[in-house]
Amino acid sequence: MNDTTTTGTSGAAPASSYYQRHIFFCLNERPNGEACCGQHGAQAAFERCKVLVKEAGLSGPGKVRVNKAGCLDRCAGAPVAVVYPEAVWYTYVDASDIEEIFHSHLQNGQVVERLLLPPDVGH
Ligand code: FES
Repeated sequence: MNDTTTTGTSGAAPASSYYQRHIFFCLNERPNGEACCGQHGAQAAFERCKVLVKEAGLSGPGKVRVNKAGCLDRCAGAPVAVVYPEAVWYTYVDASDIEEIFHSHLQNGQVVERLLLPPDVGH
């Protein structure tokens, strides 16, 4: 079993971790029509998550960082995002999913099981 199934932890990040949690949203866009996160609302999700973190006063060192990413090579599950240090991969549909990831995982360390990206989903 790996860390992607860890639940119920709201524990602090390791002392060496600059941010307590770091979420990366793939925002990759492919002009040729191939599956990509950019076609599935990734930009809006990224922006919503940034607003939620800021409004909660959670941005900054020792707290939460929201970053853009290029292709994370799991495009078949698009759109995808990954949260570290737990290395939990999510797929999502809309703003309410992002709000759940924020409130549950980024704020409280509870993995959102229903939005987990299956481990076999790749490119
Ligand atoms: S385009 Fe998002 S993971 Fe590849």
